[in-house]
Amino acid sequence: MTKGFIFDLDGVIVDTAKYHYLAWKKLANQLGFEFTKEQNELFKGVSRKRCLEILLEIGNREATQEEFDTWMVEKNVDYLAYIENMDASEILPDVPRILQFLKEKNIPIALGSASKNARPILEKVNLIHYFGAIVDGNNVTKAKPDPEVFLLAAKQLGVNAEDCVVFEDAVAGVEAANAANMISIGIGDKNVLSEGQFNFTDFTEISNNFIQKLIEG
Ligand code: BG6
Ligand code: MG
Repeated sequence: MTKGFIFDLDGVIVDTAKYHYLAWKKLANQLGFEFTKEQNELFKGVSRKRCLEILLEIGNREATQEEFDTWMVEKNVDYLAYIENMDASEILPDVPRILQFLKEKNIPIALGSASKNARPILEKVNLIHYFGAIVDGNNVTKAKPDPEVFLLAAKQLGVNAEDCVVFEDAVAGVEAANAANMISIGIGDKNVLSEGQFNFTDFTEISNNFIQKLIEG
């Protein structure tokens, strides 16, 4: 019985939330209202389209379809400028240790992300070679908390859903992993991610021994 490990990207492998925030803030300011870091928490794990809908609710702004589409593009152009110079120094602590441990055990690894920018980011930080499957915002029709992204990742790895372990920093992502019948591991605030089967502040708290136990599960 092979196990599969699925990683979310933003907030799990790299801290891109700050760049998403800067890009959304720029758009909000351009439209004449403020967007705070606290409000940015609502955007974690949420698709680009849904983020813009929430942003417009925050600013109490209406948009024509044309404006909506333009702003989606503008936000992403700004985001791409922020991430252009990303490199391996932006990988979150101990992520490479866990990936390397899994690789040495021949455990299949997938990415399960809402982002449509996942591939270029994995390339920039030089981790793409670890991933046997990459499922991102370009491949799914239903956003987290729908389990589609993780079920597709399991399928591409050739592993049963119930044999998969998911690392997630977003509430919607933990819910998606639970809905997929997978083992959910919350990375971040234990109080926020309380629906996770396990919770850790970051990967420095996760020992190789713990991973080995999950593999033997
Ligand atoms: C998620 C992020 O991983 O991807 C969200 O947590 C983001 O904040 C979403 O909105 C979509 O990302 P992108 O790169 O396709 O705009
Ligand atoms: Mg995330």
